[in-house]
Amino acid sequence: MSVSTLSPLSAVPDADADADADADAPSGCAPLPVLGRDVTVPLVTGGEVTYAALDYAASAPALQRVWDDVAAYAPYYGSVHRGAGHLSQLSTELFENARRTVAGFLDCREQDQVVFTRSTTDSLNLLAAALPDDCRVFVFETEHHAALLPWRGARVTLLDAPGSPQQAVRTLEHALAARDPHGPALVCVTGASNVTGELWPVRELAAAAHAHGARIVLDAAQLAPHRAVSLRELDVDWVAFSGHKLYAPFGTGVLAGRADWLRRAEPYLAGGGASRRVARRADGGVDVQWHDGAARHEAGSPNVIGAHAVASACKALGEAGFGALAAHEERLIRTVRDGLADVPEVRFLSLFGDGAPRVGVLSFVVDGWNSSHFAEALSAEYGIGVRDGLFCAHPLLRVLLGGDPQDQGECGAPGTAPGETSLHAVRVSFGAGTPDEHVERFVRAVRELVRGGARWSYREADGRRVPDTSA
Ligand SMILES: Cc1ncc(COP(=O)(O)O)c(C=O)c1O
Repeated sequence: MSVSTLSPLSAVPDADADADADADAPSGCAPLPVLGRDVTVPLVTGGEVTYAALDYAASAPALQRVWDDVAAYAPYYGSVHRGAGHLSQLSTELFENARRTVAGFLDCREQDQVVFTRSTTDSLNLLAAALPDDCRVFVFETEHHAALLPWRGARVTLLDAPGSPQQAVRTLEHALAARDPHGPALVCVTGASNVTGELWPVRELAAAAHAHGARIVLDAAQLAPHRAVSLRELDVDWVAFSGHKLYAPFGTGVLAGRADWLRRAEPYLAGGGASRRVARRADGGVDVQWHDGAARHEAGSPNVIGAHAVASACKALGEAGFGALAAHEERLIRTVRDGLADVPEVRFLSLFGDGAPRVGVLSFVVDGWNSSHFAEALSAEYGIGVRDGLFCAHPLLRVLLGGDPQDQGECGAPGTAPGETSLHAVRVSFGAGTPDEHVERFVRAVRELVRGGARWSYREADGRRVPDTSA
């Protein structure tokens, strides 16, 4: 294809046709095809099986559509906001179009700004760096470390883990009512827990924050892949999410919302792209005028592939419809809960109670099992990928497990002795690309392991149980 005669965006082929063709791929009844659905992995007991990726909450596989869109654009790749050539113009337009697509996906308000970052962690650190002086931050102890830790330069009020959504609202209201009402305040809250999958009452928490003159940022890392997120409807001031959890693993995240604090803050990164004018002062120093818009916090060459991938995922999820995606997940959650209802050794973790609405994320402990042993056995003997540990939410795990989980390392490696019940947990998570068979295999595997034990022997290595292949 010659690009010389084409206007910038029409040069990028539309990958939709490929995506439609892939809808017939052997993915069971998964609503959206993802990469890796035919990958096979060896079993320690012999043979191979199709890999069951059940760790979407950590990183979801790329949507086929995202991959196709990235591949279609790749030959036209060029610099963004810093080139006169045709492909630079095309790439700049693609990048800014991605920003508009994300704004639409999040139902942003007229004045909201979409800043491309690297991840949710990056987005929340950016907001933390933009807090006004004397800002007080309110955050529940149940948050992921990415939402718990960035505010350490501010005055932080840590809120107790609530036992219900209503109690979460009451706890926040109580804390906000006790603060000095004159200074700025920010509430940071998750939309869906990365440990229990439970949905938090975001709209009510936002109303409570605003009623007390505070602002609120929504950590939508686990919510955005599963439910529609509307800044307008939820009335949150900012929302943060990660592309790699939204089926777009190309290194881009998003912070979207109010522009004022961001405009007043020093640029998150200082450098080209963030600066409008730079001049040498008479005294030898450097004068800088920074941009006001999103570019202020996007110094350096933007990750146009990442932004394009996120926009592609936003479109794909929007077209599939969150109603259909949630119904699919709901069915998979029921498969897990019903399939393990008569296995009392498996205890699911919950703050709000077993029946609380949740996304496709479930954590559990298995009586008598070390969590790393259990997760390794699922992988080695059944080809199932889950996560075990503390899930970067140490204080929450302490609440849920009622003990000190003997933290080892940033995200918690398991450390219990053989035969003891683990003070870490196992997490299974799924989404738009998960076929029923993967979850059915998981249920069967858990039942077999609990009833019959592991078929292989495992040894300790670096604090984990790993299959012993020395015999
Ligand atoms: C609820 C929640 N918030 C924030 C994060 C951090 O996301 P990232 O690692 O993409 O920055 C995660 C990641 O697991 C998460 O689950």
